[in-house]
Amino acid sequence: STESLKHAVADEFLMGVALNVRQSSGMDARATALVKQHFNSIVAENCMKCEELQPEEGKFRFEQADEFVRWGQENGMTIIGHCLIWHSQLPAWFCVDSEGKNVSPEVLKQRMKSHIQTVVSRYRGQVFGWDVVNEALMEDGTYRPSKFYEILGEEFIPLAFQYAHEADPDAELYYNDYNMHTEGKRKAVSRLVRTLKERGLRIDAVGMQGHMGMDYPTLKDMEASMQAFADEGVKVMITEWDMSALPTVAQTANLADTVTFNRTLDPYPEGLPDSVACMWNERMKQFFDLFRRRSDIVSRVCVWGVTDGDSWKNDFPVKGRRDYPLLFDRNYQPKPFVQQLITTD
Ligand code: XIL
Repeated sequence: STESLKHAVADEFLMGVALNVRQSSGMDARATALVKQHFNSIVAENCMKCEELQPEEGKFRFEQADEFVRWGQENGMTIIGHCLIWHSQLPAWFCVDSEGKNVSPEVLKQRMKSHIQTVVSRYRGQVFGWDVVNEALMEDGTYRPSKFYEILGEEFIPLAFQYAHEADPDAELYYNDYNMHTEGKRKAVSRLVRTLKERGLRIDAVGMQGHMGMDYPTLKDMEASMQAFADEGVKVMITEWDMSALPTVAQTANLADTVTFNRTLDPYPEGLPDSVACMWNERMKQFFDLFRRRSDIVSRVCVWGVTDGDSWKNDFPVKGRRDYPLLFDRNYQPKPFVQQLITTD
């Protein structure tokens, strides 16, 4: 037995994990040990986002990202950069002038170029691939009405890919998004890949975040999107995999406003019932089996956190719900299907 996830799937795809800064700075020794044992690829959960790297115009802050990249290099990890252009965790100054008005297209292009070139060239030869644009499309296939889209229109996406490629011609470049199983996004992302390629721009893979729930997506819809992206001539990556074990918020309470955070919305204050844990395990196994079966097109599967305790899902979409979405539990123990995989393979 290999006792290691990355060895169990070594012939299939890279096995990735998102690290928080405690983990990449060595302050969570148990998590660090699990990462070394089971994973061969890492991505930064937050410290390479725009608001972290360039909180003020021209004032870059690289300490945590440098530490993350150094840790990855020392441990032989394939390092993924997340992310260059995204409407969220974007510093307030980025798209507006000192009076808060949208900047001109020319100014925004210049800011995008400067951010992308500074960040990508710093890690040239160290970061293997970049999430160049994150979450630019909606489930109905339209463009997200972000500042980038407002100011530059559809053109902001090709521009971002062009700037990233200029800064590191050897780096892989990805488009990353969530709810990629929906038909609207499937079609829009396929169209986007085609457009980029027709214009001679580099795009290596589509990243399907893979934030799942107990009732979505279906295996069929997931595979249909995987196939559709592969048909456009790019690799498929599952980039932020997790599966909430909790009922969706709409089922939990009639929340008109999910910003009204409330700790009492934790549906399982005594812990996850065995029956639910069992269903979660079975469903996760089915998806993992799908990724393995389609390793002809899937080149990386990356989970969004090491243990359940680390997961952003404990605070999203409702703060303070204890969730159980990852491959290792709060005691750093593998979930049953993972245990089975690493002992039998
Ligand atoms: C999340 C992080 O996990 C949280 O710690 C942070 O507070 C918010 O962002 N889609 C993405 C990720 O592309 O960057 C997000 O990460 C989760 C959703």
